Amino acid sequence: MVARDILRQQLPHTLEGTSYEDQGELYRGKVRDNYIKEETITMVTTDRISAFDRVLGTVPFKGQALVELADWWFGETADIVANHVLRRPHPNLWTVRRCDPIQVEMVVRGYLTGVTSTSIWTAYEQGDRDFCGNELPDGMRKHEQLPEPIITPSTKAAQGDHDESVAPEELYRRGVIDPGLFRELSKISMQLYHRGVKRAAEQGMIFVDTKYEFGISKGKIMLMDEVNTPDSSRYWLAEDYEARFEKEEEPRKFDKEYVRTWLANQGFTGKGKPPTLTDDIRVEAASRYIEVVETFTGEEMPLEVGPINDSIYHVLNPFA
Ligand SMILES: Nc1ncnc2c1ncn2[C@@H]1O[C@H](COP(=O)(O)OP(=O)(O)OP(=O)(O)O)[C@@H](O)[C@H]1O
Ligand SMILES: [Mg+2]
Repeated sequence: MVARDILRQQLPHTLEGTSYEDQGELYRGKVRDNYIKEETITMVTTDRISAFDRVLGTVPFKGQALVELADWWFGETADIVANHVLRRPHPNLWTVRRCDPIQVEMVVRGYLTGVTSTSIWTAYEQGDRDFCGNELPDGMRKHEQLPEPIITPSTKAAQGDHDESVAPEELYRRGVIDPGLFRELSKISMQLYHRGVKRAAEQGMIFVDTKYEFGISKGKIMLMDEVNTPDSSRYWLAEDYEARFEKEEEPRKFDKEYVRTWLANQGFTGKGKPPTLTDDIRVEAASRYIEVVETFTGEEMPLEVGPINDSIYHVLNPFA
């Protein structure tokens, strides 16, 4: 169990963003601050949380939790595909290989779920049965396991835009990716997903769905960005999933969906001004992120209360 008082103490110190002048060109994603160099990127994972493609605030120790867990999964999946991580000089920081990003996000899904307007459950409920070329049977229920995992690729939208789910044939037609590379990425993504399912089951979790990003470095396919974290993946508790499913209750969630559900319950649909995350929600979200990390790594996450920006800067500039 994570000590709530530590999470609460960290609330005023969360890492909202960085702006180091001497670390390369800055590209700010929704969650990560990337300092781009010739061959590497200094990647700071901040405590920002995004949902509905919007940044909504910060969650204590979220950046550290993401890096911690992704690092663990990168290790667990290194036999399947090479990844971009070179070093982790600070809890929130990676030095990664700079890749040529492939402009397709490989989404792998094992269950019929979601709350946003673009989720497959919402589309299914409205009558859709074809998901990027994957045909689903009638009569399925919310949170039900799919007959087999499917891949629903999406385009990487420009900043501020929503990603768009697109069938492979359409991706080929638009010239985003060629069939050979797409098939190769599909094969790797399925292997990664199955590994995720297996490891998660060992920890009493259901690995529901996830998203992988790949790039090319020196002619080689690399898994980049992050892997199998609660930001990119859904995790449910396995223990009472069946019982809850039968009663049409929500599964117990250990991922960002907790925050999405809270937002949806406040009436937020992704448009207009999002509600401000309360401190209670931020602390609860933090404890779930950390719980997932500790569940997998089997180690207690070291939590140091205090400002993070200074300690990162010091690691980057040891003589400053
Ligand atoms: N090794 C890498 N080489 C090049 N780009 C990378 C690498 N790893 C991750 N990226 C890119 O860096 C960015 C990481 O930032 P972050 O995860 O915050 O972005 P995002 O919010 O998911 O997406 P966006 O960039 O569309 O806002 C992503 O655009 C990701 O594709
Ligand atoms: Mg990302």
